[in-house]
Amino acid sequence: MARYAYVNGRYVDHRDASVHIEDRGYQLADGVYEVVGVREGRLIDETPHIDRLDRSLRELRIDWPVARPALGFILRELMRRNRLRDGLIYMQVTRGVARRDHAFPTTPVKPALVLTTKNTRHLGADPGPGVAVKSQPDIRWERCDIKTIALLPNVLAKQAARESGAYEAWLIDGKGCITEGASTNAWIVTPDNELVTRQTDNGILAGITRGTLKRIANDLQLKFVERPFTLAEAKKAKEAFITSATSFVTPVVKIDGDKVGDGKVGPTARRLREEYVRFASEGEAVT
Ligand code: PDD
Repeated sequence: MARYAYVNGRYVDHRDASVHIEDRGYQLADGVYEVVGVREGRLIDETPHIDRLDRSLRELRIDWPVARPALGFILRELMRRNRLRDGLIYMQVTRGVARRDHAFPTTPVKPALVLTTKNTRHLGADPGPGVAVKSQPDIRWERCDIKTIALLPNVLAKQAARESGAYEAWLIDGKGCITEGASTNAWIVTPDNELVTRQTDNGILAGITRGTLKRIANDLQLKFVERPFTLAEAKKAKEAFITSATSFVTPVVKIDGDKVGDGKVGPTARRLREEYVRFASEGEAVT
């Protein structure tokens, strides 16, 4: 099946899709991105993702590359062309193409917009056996609230995790607290059944899945708090899990080789996963 990418106004064969060598994203990581999950042909949480893209662009003073409704159209057109049923859409906006200089271009340049899709396996209500995580120092900058394409600390942390056989890295700040995962938000369930995730500020990305799960937890009347939690607390937790557009709610059963609880998927993560999948099945299918 031919796969298309969208590059600056054109749908092109994915194999031939390319950008200019002086794109500021390529040279300076001067850009932002979003990943929107697609399940059974439905976009999951499209509006909050586009709102977050808007915020990231504003924080970095990058203009919108197209009008917002046009982006909605492009998303759908790419899904249709690629017959995307289960997977994700990746969208990236960079400040554009200009002769290399750290400062912004002095003459107006058009921001560059690229969209690709990826097929993944169908994610259902069953969370599977859970995953292992490995702690890593959080060496990122102080604006982790902006979803920029500058991801080298995340890349290195994820790689360290993978080399140790873990699926995800949990990033530890200077106070010994877990901020978030390399590409996911981090949650625990305490021994007295409190659902805990770190508060959103410039230390973490305000995950869209995190936001949706907060609402679900509220609907289920779970005890929920947003506060810092340490690695030691996480290791003594009853349950732990991660959330993201691509992993939904995925239980964490091991931290640095130590079992979380009894080392099996717990009831809270299982329930939240079920409810999240139910939520992801609502709305109109595009493909
Ligand atoms: N990552 N924290 C970080 C650092 C992330 O990169 C992500 C998303 C999340 C979860 O956010 P959301 O629920 O909106 O997906 C938290 C995407 C999936 C990625 O980089 O591929």
